[in-house]
Amino acid sequence: MPSSSKQRTDIFEKLAPYYDLLLGILTFGNYAKFLRKTVKVLAPKKGEKILDLCSGTGRVASWILQAVGEEGEVTGMDITQSMIDVAKERYGKSGNLIFLKKDVTQPWEYQNHFDGIFTSFALHELPEKYRLGVLEQSYSALKGKGRMVIADFNPHVSGKARMISLLFFKLFERGNLNFFNLNQNETLKKVGFKKIKTFSISAGILQITLAYKN
Ligand SMILES: C[S@@+](CC[C@H](N)C(=O)[O-])C[C@H]1O[C@@H](n2cnc3c(N)ncnc32)[C@H](O)[C@@H]1O
Repeated sequence: MPSSSKQRTDIFEKLAPYYDLLLGILTFGNYAKFLRKTVKVLAPKKGEKILDLCSGTGRVASWILQAVGEEGEVTGMDITQSMIDVAKERYGKSGNLIFLKKDVTQPWEYQNHFDGIFTSFALHELPEKYRLGVLEQSYSALKGKGRMVIADFNPHVSGKARMISLLFFKLFERGNLNFFNLNQNETLKKVGFKKIKTFSISAGILQITLAYKN
């Protein structure tokens, strides 16, 4: 793992118990609102199998579980042990919500398994050379009619909003500045996703992307 990624995961290791609270305070509650909006775009249904890729504290996975119900199944994957521990402690009582400690840049065992994949503020965290591979694995892990939602910074942001995004990254996420080189929609198409819709949020600084496998 590149040293900048290691430093970031070390931060998550320490922040895990306070992560949701801290982000809530720093964004005046807008972080959770944005995540709820993204879950609405995913629109999980009763009985579906959903993956939360880089699931953090497991909060979103627990919301998705409410939608898929007892016949459904939600899997959270995250590389940070303390994130997995917090998620299991808070939401791990239900048998159909599981949290796996996993580096998602490494091979997954899932093929045609999930109806939907959710991921928030994770793609920009992954080392540049692995982003394509993670999207490829996501594509393979989806069933034929599956879809993926990505909530993150908008790498295509332009104008003043781009200046704000770049300043934010220079101050807080210098190691992830290469995210703005990602042509996300072209990459999704290259991977095989057919229909791609994007929803611009906060003057285009953030975006929600919905991509269908077929
Ligand atoms: C910014 S946090 C977002 C967490 C959660 N999705 C949310 O929106 O609240 C990024 C998460 O990605 C996880 N992560 C970073 N690199 C990863 C990797 N290679 N494999 C799995 N998880 C990773 C971190 O541990 C962290 O929990």
